[in-house]
Amino acid sequence: MNTAELKKELVDLVTTAGDMTALENVRVTALGKKGRITDLMKNLGSMSSDERKTAGAELNVLKDEIAALIEKQASQLKRQEMDGRLANEQIDVTLSTRPERKGSIHPISQTMDELVSIFADMGFSVAEGPDIEDDFHNFTALNFPLGHPAREMHDTFYMPHDERETGEAQKKVLRTHTSTVQIRHMMNNKPPIKMICFGRCYRSDWDMTHTPVFHQMEALYIDKNVNMGHLKGCLSDFVRAFFGIDDLPVRFRPSFFPFTEPSAEVDIGYWKENGELKLGRAPKLENQKWLEILGSGMVHPNVLKNCGLDPEIYQGFAFGMGLERATMLKYGIPDLRSFFESDTRWLTHYAFDPLNRPNRATK
Ligand code: DAH
Repeated sequence: MNTAELKKELVDLVTTAGDMTALENVRVTALGKKGRITDLMKNLGSMSSDERKTAGAELNVLKDEIAALIEKQASQLKRQEMDGRLANEQIDVTLSTRPERKGSIHPISQTMDELVSIFADMGFSVAEGPDIEDDFHNFTALNFPLGHPAREMHDTFYMPHDERETGEAQKKVLRTHTSTVQIRHMMNNKPPIKMICFGRCYRSDWDMTHTPVFHQMEALYIDKNVNMGHLKGCLSDFVRAFFGIDDLPVRFRPSFFPFTEPSAEVDIGYWKENGELKLGRAPKLENQKWLEILGSGMVHPNVLKNCGLDPEIYQGFAFGMGLERATMLKYGIPDLRSFFESDTRWLTHYAFDPLNRPNRATK
């Protein structure tokens, strides 16, 4: 067989190879160690030197041509395969999602998302802090010095402590409130400060209304010339937006926290209709009742000083709210403990649509 005939045969084989496996077989037949071209090359030894020169050159050219043709055919096959997949694996973006495959949003996450949208609207950003805190951030810096009786109100989980390694201030505790994040934020940022934060908190409690782990939201606003009026305005707007009741009665009741002065507990109005709790203004004033929902106050000068801020220049307000309680009130959830039981029947009933997230911009 001469080179021209062989070329015709091999070109035929390559161009009719219908998939990558067939093409690989052709490559072995043509160019492999025991392949057709190699076979002919073996004959070169028995030729005269002139014959060998021309035949050898022809075979080398053929080898290159066939190799190039195989390459071309391979890329064509790959393109065909891709075109086929693109045609067959089309996604119909107009189809609705399959409801049975959709996850859901836990009511606590829903509340956090709603709060982010409300406070983002007022220019607050979201900060974070660790769950495992130290005594300094959880108590001392917040103006509960060692031995302060207010520490007793927090049934704290202390971590094992090695006296040789750390002093009292570094003693590790699971944070009892998110007020710790105020301290971290003030120490690391310059006023004006407008932040909220969310997080798990821990106290050694367990009954219908207390669990050893729960969630809080904290807010902090520090600037020059901040006063109680700002606190009242911000808190009233926020609770009315959160509960979706424009005329929700809001009451500020004097209270005590070591880290604020003055301090106020915030109550919202409700009344009872046929034994059912209704948030809002009671139709008759004498039926108006009050529910406490959060603690607040003007940041204590000692706390500002502990964070390196001059209380003669800066003031601010802060508040902290339990997220489970707020969520229970808003959605009529009766038992706090159910938040942590991961019962899918409960979740199916109370959880939220992941494709419909709170967003003030579209209201
Ligand atoms: N940290 C308080 C608690 O856990 C809640 C609180 C009250 C936070 C007043 C504040 C505040 O920021 O100003 O009970």
